[in-house]
Amino acid sequence: MAVIYLQEFLLQETFLSIKSVIYQLTTFLSLVFSLRFKGRDIISIEDFSREEINYILKSSHAMEPLAAKSSDMLKGKILATLFFEPSTRTRLSFEAAMLKLGGSTIGFAEAEITSVRKGENLADTIRTVENYADIIALRHPLEGAAKLAAEFSKLPILNAGSGAEEHPTQALMDLYTLQKEKGKIDGLKIALVGDLRYGRTVHSLAYALSLYNIELHLISPETLRMRHEVIRAIKNKVSIKEDTNLDNIIPQIDVLYVTRIQKERFPDPAEYAKVKGIYRIDLKTLKRAKKDLVILHPLPRIDEIAYEVDNTPQARYFQQVWNGIVVRMALLALVLGAVK
Ligand code: NCD
Repeated sequence: MAVIYLQEFLLQETFLSIKSVIYQLTTFLSLVFSLRFKGRDIISIEDFSREEINYILKSSHAMEPLAAKSSDMLKGKILATLFFEPSTRTRLSFEAAMLKLGGSTIGFAEAEITSVRKGENLADTIRTVENYADIIALRHPLEGAAKLAAEFSKLPILNAGSGAEEHPTQALMDLYTLQKEKGKIDGLKIALVGDLRYGRTVHSLAYALSLYNIELHLISPETLRMRHEVIRAIKNKVSIKEDTNLDNIIPQIDVLYVTRIQKERFPDPAEYAKVKGIYRIDLKTLKRAKKDLVILHPLPRIDEIAYEVDNTPQARYFQQVWNGIVVRMALLALVLGAVK
């Protein structure tokens, strides 16, 4: 009898010590993870693994209650938003995210009123601003600008859009929206529609989606097909189907990610005129779609989604805007080392 008790006791002890080892190991691993975010630049979504992205999505979820009331997690910290290109959502949501975490913001939304007008270059602007802030969100019309800024900057740089190249924080909020709306990312049939050549959001999103087990449909006019370098990077990781016709795939897909034709990035206005208004999602389109189709759009919308779609349950693009706040709160908190 005593032997059985002893055995049971030892078993229990072993179980408890295994549990504590596992606990310590996971704590250690999450610490290692957090160290990977602290002080890190966010330049390209390609720099992130699936585990790291999932960790950011988890941290974003944890920010939901703080976004609803606010906190002093980043009190005393300053975010500089340097926007050399127009923006509504990205700049304001970065600023709102910082304010909700108790931090402050400085910056400009119009480079013409800064010393750039006098001929100051990006490197000197960055080397100046780093004296005033703890972290920088940069939007610039030139591809490679965020990377260049990161090379000069002592502060972490968050790429808020680098020309037609990438928009990594938008991709993170797009993934967060997918997970929230669909409960998962794996297994989804996702169509990216519109300007896949000049649209930076779809470049980052395609890189990010290639880390998941999804079916990717790329729908664009011939002249605006997804960039070769993106296709090359993802084609061995994910199933891709390219098409110019949207109607063919509407009944099969779970997610429709619509984008604006990027008028300002066309070298030739005549080329823009040929593709302007080429895709338009309206109530007729939805009749042929799955009931639980989710429609996303990074916004701004021009004419590619009819206003009549806004009140349908499929339209989730304004929910996507809210998700931008929590994802950017998580990024600020992780990169500034306030959360692990
Ligand atoms: C996008 C951008 O600036 O790349 N908007 C955004 O950041 N939400 C999309 C666009 O301008 O079409």
